[in-house]
Amino acid sequence: MDEIKKVNELYFDKTTENILKELEKTRCEFWNLDRQSANFLNTLIKINNSKNVLEIGTSNGYSGIWILKALAETKGKLTTIEFWEKRQSCARKNFELCAPDVKVEPKIGSAIVVLEDILDEINKGKREKFDFVFIDANKKEYISYFNLIDKMLVKNGIILADNILSHYEKVQDYVNTLFENENYQSQILDLGAGMMLSRRN
Ligand SMILES: C[S@@+](CC[C@H](N)C(=O)[O-])C[C@H]1O[C@@H](n2cnc3c(N)ncnc32)[C@H](O)[C@@H]1O
Repeated sequence: MDEIKKVNELYFDKTTENILKELEKTRCEFWNLDRQSANFLNTLIKINNSKNVLEIGTSNGYSGIWILKALAETKGKLTTIEFWEKRQSCARKNFELCAPDVKVEPKIGSAIVVLEDILDEINKGKREKFDFVFIDANKKEYISYFNLIDKMLVKNGIILADNILSHYEKVQDYVNTLFENENYQSQILDLGAGMMLSRRN
């Protein structure tokens, strides 16, 4: 397992690896993904050839860097939401250093309000639907995020939600709703803090 981790530590260019390593030192303060979960997120985007990714919960950009590295290959774009300006501006700097050529649209604001605005733009034909959504913000709001995301996800689109096992009580309604929804095929993965992977049929 240590050998496998060593391979993952040397995954990207030196600048990116150094920034990821620095961010990993303050992981608990900024509630970042663990490296294995981030690697899974990156791989999944590439497997699905996702090009229009939405992230809810930017923080300082740790998971965003992994998303952008995948989008560099699929030639896609990231839209990422955070209500804490300081964190979002830190994330922007990290994105610029690690993936300067990949399109990012950082959105500052409360996730539900921003999602409502995005949905409005989609309904008016000003913006395309997403093919991949990563949920990692307020656990109690996961179900509200889903009710909006459901209207902005393409057929065969993916939703990956973090902290499903670590915060099970808070996300229980999200989990039940997804499992009961016949439009989605879902699975909980015992990876990191527990992730729920859902694919829209
Ligand atoms: C778990 S952290 C995200 C970590 C990030 N995905 C990573 O792995 O690097 C959750 C982030 O969501 C933000 N957040 C929480 N509730 C939010 C809300 N309702 N609207 C916007 N951002 C929110 C927090 O400020 C925090 O930075």
